Amino acid sequence: MKQGHIAGTSADFDEILKRRLSRRSLLKGSLATASARYIGAGALGATGAVEARAGSTQLRLNFNAVAKSLDDLVRLPSGYSYKLLLATGDPIAPGIPAYSNSGVDEAGSFARRAGDHNDGMHFFGMNSKGRWDSESSERALLCVNHEAITSAFLHPQGQTIVDGKRTVDTEVVKEMLAHGVSVIEVRREAGSYSLQKDSPRNRRITTLTEVEISGPAAGSPLMITRYSPTGKRTRGTLGNCANGHTPWGTYLTCEENWAGYFRRPTSDDAKRSAKQLTALKRYNVAGKGRELWATASPDSHDQRFSRWDASITGASADGSDDYRNAPNTFGWVVEIDPFNPDVAPKKRTALGRFAHEGAWPGPVRAGQPLVWYMGCDARGEYIYKFVSAKLWDPADAGKGMAAGDKYLDDGRLYAARFNADGTGDWLELSLGKNGMTSTHPTYSFTDQADVLVHARLAADAVGATKMDRPEWGAVNPRNGEVYMTLTYNPSRDFNQLDAANPRYYTDPKAGKQGRGNVNGHIVRWAEQDNHQGATHFRWDVFLFASRESADRNNVNLSGLDASNDFSSPDGLWFSRRGLLWIETDDHAYRDSSNCMLLAAIPGAVGDGAEREVISRDGEQQKTIKTHIGATATPDTLRRFLVGPVDCEITGLAESPDGKALFVNIQHPGETTNEKGFDITKPSTYLSHWPEGGDTRPRSATIVITRDDGGLIGADIV
Ligand code: FEO
Ligand code: CA
Ligand code: CA
Repeated sequence: MKQGHIAGTSADFDEILKRRLSRRSLLKGSLATASARYIGAGALGATGAVEARAGSTQLRLNFNAVAKSLDDLVRLPSGYSYKLLLATGDPIAPGIPAYSNSGVDEAGSFARRAGDHNDGMHFFGMNSKGRWDSESSERALLCVNHEAITSAFLHPQGQTIVDGKRTVDTEVVKEMLAHGVSVIEVRREAGSYSLQKDSPRNRRITTLTEVEISGPAAGSPLMITRYSPTGKRTRGTLGNCANGHTPWGTYLTCEENWAGYFRRPTSDDAKRSAKQLTALKRYNVAGKGRELWATASPDSHDQRFSRWDASITGASADGSDDYRNAPNTFGWVVEIDPFNPDVAPKKRTALGRFAHEGAWPGPVRAGQPLVWYMGCDARGEYIYKFVSAKLWDPADAGKGMAAGDKYLDDGRLYAARFNADGTGDWLELSLGKNGMTSTHPTYSFTDQADVLVHARLAADAVGATKMDRPEWGAVNPRNGEVYMTLTYNPSRDFNQLDAANPRYYTDPKAGKQGRGNVNGHIVRWAEQDNHQGATHFRWDVFLFASRESADRNNVNLSGLDASNDFSSPDGLWFSRRGLLWIETDDHAYRDSSNCMLLAAIPGAVGDGAEREVISRDGEQQKTIKTHIGATATPDTLRRFLVGPVDCEITGLAESPDGKALFVNIQHPGETTNEKGFDITKPSTYLSHWPEGGDTRPRSATIVITRDDGGLIGADIV
């Protein structure tokens, strides 16, 4: 087998294991051991666990499929149980009272409570000295994103809004603190995990935390704000959706839906240059601002609130007296060192600015660059990858933000083009390459900071492929192939279907989401030769999501049945064993089921066939040829969990020994307010999960274990 090539058979997997184990034996000392373990954890399976299993690596699902459900419950297979670990408002520090869940909790206390909308997360095993140990299952720091809020539930009677303005500042402070990230210590007790409420390592990062701007865009004129006239700092992180991690033991939280929080009235357009307007429009920075934060304390000029006003209000030429550039300080991958709470998080600008869903590491190899895969989650947006300039030195494991400075501030950003013939290309987004210059007809790129701040415009310029909303990615530890969900796209232009986004159909039961790519799909690719230097790949569609009853020739193309049909894949995550978990955030199949979690045993790119798909829009018809992975069977894809009413299933983490799975139940009952219920009467809410009765619903992290203490989801046979 060619050096660096990773093929898709179990025989190859065994060969990889042997190579890795011999490499591991060459490494000495604690850091070397930690990094060797990481090679196992991040790239090729769990070292310790897999060593014992080398030679027997086939997976078999170990549960019966859970039926679709509309109940306000978490449904699991028999033999499995869950425990609530961290719900919205839970105290994470001594002295903070239990959460009232009635809206009356003191606003400032949210700096020491779990935020809302639990999302992406990562389990950082910890040894007895409080240091990172990727093999420790007994004790860990769990980093949990809090993407957004269901604001109605946070206050006694929902938000107070008078004449379009927020008039109760404490409500706004509570909301700002309920976003961000929680770092919590957990310990295994009686087979499951408990929050260590009094741990000194527990920490919140919120929209108010000071954050450094790092990498090529730090100090750029595009980053100048009243808060930081040097353009090297900003306040907080926002829209923390999915996540990633690094081989040196830090957490990556990714900023997705940040743009909508900014207020920018149309009157601001007249003060902007044509170039600025192109950029603001491309990132949708316009309107009143979600949650109306900029309207709080309008006369006090409190920058905690005024910073959400992105219009030009000051007299300066550079923006150092207002927040016209504040949106440029969001939309990044943000690095947090969970083991060092005194160090400010850093926004790593080399990875580009867009609606970052997450950042998933590719295989980690000593002496090779590091790679992260990323998606921009909006309709018709792109898939990206970042390749570090520096080559991975395993001695950097455990070095925290200093390692981040080395690997994440310098590298090349690419956007993906999926060709009709099943090949693909990574198109470099660097000034002067692929036509990105100051004379580009749609946008004049000034420097590399301009390219990175406006990565969407850069990807437009190079001709990347517009995808049906890239959500999560995941890298198969068995063969290095990369998977990414394309959740759904009711806005897909019928005249711009392509091989990687080929479906367009109508589903009357799906309401306003029932047109276009109604149910979404999962694409995957194999890098040519290796991840690090590759600019070419081969791809296919791993799965097309669908109702089981849909037309099997053109819609239910993966042959889903009642045990495994699903819609709107969103979260995606590989266990160390190579088991693929698929989570849904669905808007089109809600007549039949709440959102769910499925387990898949994937094959490899090219294990299916080329197919012609007929798409229809009214009387119009188009035939698109695409590349589809092997048909799903109940043995390769099975529903594992169904969540409560009106929730999204998201965020996944596993204990290193594979015996506990952490899952987030996000925003149960979310549309209660939108649907005109009386918010002052909790008995009328759409969901009461997790506490039941007439309680307000809460987002929460749950821990799933097997009653017999075995591996979650699949056994190795
Ligand atoms: Fe926050 Fe695209 O999901
Ligand atoms: Ca998502
Ligand atoms: Ca989603």
